[in-house]
Amino acid sequence: MDKFVIKGGKALHGSVAISGAKNSALPVMAAALLTTEEVSVHNIPKVRDLITMSKLLAFMGAKVSIAELPASDYVIEASMVSDAVAPYELVKTMRASILTLGPLMARVGVARVSLPGGCAIGARPVDLHLAALEKMGAEITTSHGYIEAKVPNGGKLKGAHIVFEKITVTGTENILMAAALAKGETILENSAREPEVTDLVAMLRKMGAQIEGDGTATLRIRGVEKLYGTEHTVIPDRIEAGTFLAAGAITDGDLTVTNCAPEDLGAVIAKMQGTGVRFDEIDKTTLRVRGAKRLVGSDMTTEEYPGFATDMQAQYMALATQAEGTSVITETIFENRFLHASEMVRMGANISIDGRRAVVRGPAQFSGTTVQASDLRASAGLVLAGLVANGETIIDRVYHIDRGYEGIVEKLRSVGADIERVHGSGS
Ligand code: EPU
Repeated sequence: MDKFVIKGGKALHGSVAISGAKNSALPVMAAALLTTEEVSVHNIPKVRDLITMSKLLAFMGAKVSIAELPASDYVIEASMVSDAVAPYELVKTMRASILTLGPLMARVGVARVSLPGGCAIGARPVDLHLAALEKMGAEITTSHGYIEAKVPNGGKLKGAHIVFEKITVTGTENILMAAALAKGETILENSAREPEVTDLVAMLRKMGAQIEGDGTATLRIRGVEKLYGTEHTVIPDRIEAGTFLAAGAITDGDLTVTNCAPEDLGAVIAKMQGTGVRFDEIDKTTLRVRGAKRLVGSDMTTEEYPGFATDMQAQYMALATQAEGTSVITETIFENRFLHASEMVRMGANISIDGRRAVVRGPAQFSGTTVQASDLRASAGLVLAGLVANGETIIDRVYHIDRGYEGIVEKLRSVGADIERVHGSGS
């Protein structure tokens, strides 16, 4: 297994370009299942999850044309869906495989998708996706670890009025895609408002879908008979951008982050400003971040968009360890998303956890040691901790980070970090 070796203490200087959003590219690619025509997608991040999604679509019978992997441009043509199945082998490596359920039900009225199960950050059920599809007329059973769904009598899904009990990002995306080809109107209330959902709406609209209300909690979808091929460029990854902004800030550097969407980063910028970090919006796609001589602790609570993203919580925790005073970090989205905290404590942080609340007392002087990455964003938090640690930090199990950060080692090195990937074998 690969590891990262980081020698801390270097301030980051220079400019780094942000890749396309993983969590936007995933549903956008799944949406290609909704049409027999060709869909071209640009700005796909070169990360493992997108390779998994392309394998999944190919398994289902879609033609996925790419010059080589990893690629940032994919052409997908699902002229037929030969196998409406998301097998366990692919789902176990990527929960977002569930995003094929809605499009399959809309397109062929039947789907067999392995249950994703839990992951390091929580139980992560998909009950809300299934309840919504049932409301649209699907019959769903689960057996032998698979979701077996079908529309009875070979019919079509019907529009329905769905009120999500809890805000769910992939749940909203799945039902949006299902509703795009359903019979009649679907109203989704308490929908996710994440920029990735809005990006999917933009793509579906170009395919001919009739959707209103994007960016709000109520989406109205009037089902159409047919969707068409299109071309789409996915939005910049706001979590990758936020991670680099935190890297610039924590190392007391001066970093310019290009190809990003500052308007999607409002809560992250505001919260980091509260600790003393300085930001300048150079233009609509460029942000400059500068550290503070003295960071001050500030409380933070994760929330659905437009609140502070749970996917930035580990990175914010790393920053809070370097701030003077106490920061109370409350995680409201996932029940077990503090696994990075105990690794940061091993590096010298003062963090106590009480349920969904972490109390961080700083500033801490980190000393490098070997730490374990437990999930994608926890890994990013540990990389930030390594960048300010004394001596050498070795991060194990970095396959987690390869799922979602394109070229993170190369990008960090290009702005002055001392980080390298060491290839390993076995566990
Ligand atoms: N939930 C349910 N039932 C459901 C669906 C969700 O109880 O049917 C719960 C979850 O267990 C969680 C909460 O609702 O407590 C929110 O989960 P959500 O469904 O919004 O998460 P997701 O769609 O599975 C996406 C991102 C995650 C990100 C979350 C929250 C993708 C592919 N994944 O997951 O990204 O953390 O939204 O913003 O879009 C990551 O990129 O590292 C990542 C984990």
